[in-house]
Amino acid sequence: PKITFITSENETISVEGTSGSVMQLAVDNDIKGIDGDCGGVCSCATCHVFIHPDHFEKTGVPGEIEKDMLELDDNVTEYSRLCCQLEISDSLDGLIVTVAQ
Ligand code: FES
Repeated sequence: PKITFITSENETISVEGTSGSVMQLAVDNDIKGIDGDCGGVCSCATCHVFIHPDHFEKTGVPGEIEKDMLELDDNVTEYSRLCCQLEISDSLDGLIVTVAQ
């Protein structure tokens, strides 16, 4: 599936993923602003992204632990997700996410 990241510098980068999490895909492709400090265990929030509003049904809502983590972030919106919790699958094809600052 193809996933598109919009960085804080307004760069649009589309990459093709096969497996793993969206966070891992971003880190592997040096997407600025996604650090993945905790290694993808939902405890750092350095993988915060905003899902394109039209695409929110592709990802669904955050789980309980993820929600708790997001609440610590001032920048959170109804489209916020921690992208280490998004498993790459065909259902994410075409997904557009904006990297949170
Ligand atoms: Fe740490 Fe996602 S990589 S919360």
